[in-house]
Amino acid sequence: MKTIIEPFRIKSVEPLHHTTRDEREAFLAEAGYNLFSIDARNILIDLLTDSGTSAMSVEQWAAMMRGDESYAGSESFYRMKAAVQDLMGFRHVIPTHQGRAAERILFSVLCRPGMVVPNNTHFDTTRANVEYTGARAVDLPVSEAEDTQAPFPFKGNMDVGALERLIDAEGAERIPAIMLTVTSNSSGGQPVSLANIGAVHDVARRRGIPLYLDACRFAENAYLIQQREPGYASFTAKQIAQKMFSLANGCTFSAKKDAFANIGGFLCTNDDRLAEQEKNLLILTEGYPTYGGLAGRDLEAIAVGLQEVLDQDYLEYRIASTGYLGRHISEHGVPIVQPPGGHAIYIDAGRMLPHIPRHHFPGQALAVELYRHAGIRSVEIGSLMFGEKARHELLRLAIPRRVYTQSHMDYVVEAILEINERREAIRGFEIVREPRFLRHFTAVLRPL
Ligand code: F0G
Repeated sequence: MKTIIEPFRIKSVEPLHHTTRDEREAFLAEAGYNLFSIDARNILIDLLTDSGTSAMSVEQWAAMMRGDESYAGSESFYRMKAAVQDLMGFRHVIPTHQGRAAERILFSVLCRPGMVVPNNTHFDTTRANVEYTGARAVDLPVSEAEDTQAPFPFKGNMDVGALERLIDAEGAERIPAIMLTVTSNSSGGQPVSLANIGAVHDVARRRGIPLYLDACRFAENAYLIQQREPGYASFTAKQIAQKMFSLANGCTFSAKKDAFANIGGFLCTNDDRLAEQEKNLLILTEGYPTYGGLAGRDLEAIAVGLQEVLDQDYLEYRIASTGYLGRHISEHGVPIVQPPGGHAIYIDAGRMLPHIPRHHFPGQALAVELYRHAGIRSVEIGSLMFGEKARHELLRLAIPRRVYTQSHMDYVVEAILEINERREAIRGFEIVREPRFLRHFTAVLRPL
């Protein structure tokens, strides 16, 4: 059989709420044209993020009933730690309430003003947490990532030559860690190859700098290695993931992505001294080291999710459904970041709406239009999110795990193609009000 089906059936359903175009127009105006400010009940299909939005499995719900809510030494923590260590092999597993808390703790301990943290491409919270310490966050993507249309299979790779030059210029002592984000969210959900992780690992070891993975979407990255990197077709996704982690000294992790949890994260390291400092900071702001801001039941959901996500049928369906959306819009001329990656399809809004200049936010203009037309929520990843540092003007359609069916995706395809027909009529935006950090979450905009 050629048809790839959702490898699950539905036991519990959540109704969707339809709105009219006039209602949506009013919600947009009230929200300052910022889709983060629209109430979820007024969204029909929510592709804002794949983070914390997964449908949990019967095994996860069952495990949650076993949650041990002890303050110290909870059994749930030990089950979660065992699942993490089986997969990742790190000595210290420090739970946090989500990924950015792991980032904050890691960078608070590692970074000082004047230091530099290189990454293939920082996610926005990662960059903000580095910069908050006074250090500099530097993106070193490969040149192939520059052209959204190039079919290069590993656009998440780091430019290893540029990494060497950065270390030469700054001095290894000013680089407390090298990060690799797998998959690279900000450059299109694109995977990093094992060859590239290996090459970065070699540089890191030679220069005496620890290598950390931002491992949010490690399973999608492992599957894309299995499918795209010569030599790995006969390995399981778990074996590939284990190989990826064996090349790193630690990781930050948001369990809201590839662990199918609605909340949670952790920080791992093999460095005993660092782990002690991190746990002290954890107690101050997150909680005791056997729960770190999470309930015992959350730790259980993570433990089960980490195992389920590596199921071959699941990963095949997951990447096929992302590709389905990408293929059906790009075949009709909508420019997307090629090839389709793991968790999302990214429309190249700069290319689709060339009449809207960067400072009038073509990605945001498209996001607003998609909501106005069809009640679909997406997110701009461009100049509104990154300001001057944005390399592309993208609109991300992130696909929650195990939540939407193929007919939901067909609806999204239809909406995008209808908008594409009249794209010349779409107008840009300007900012009325913005905060100092992470402005895209709360900025207020005005249509031009
Ligand atoms: N790193 C990456 C690559 C991410 O994509 C995210 C979150 C984080 C770190 C932070 O994790 O949300 O648990 O604190 N990304 C979400 C998104 C928010 O929509 O892409 P968190």
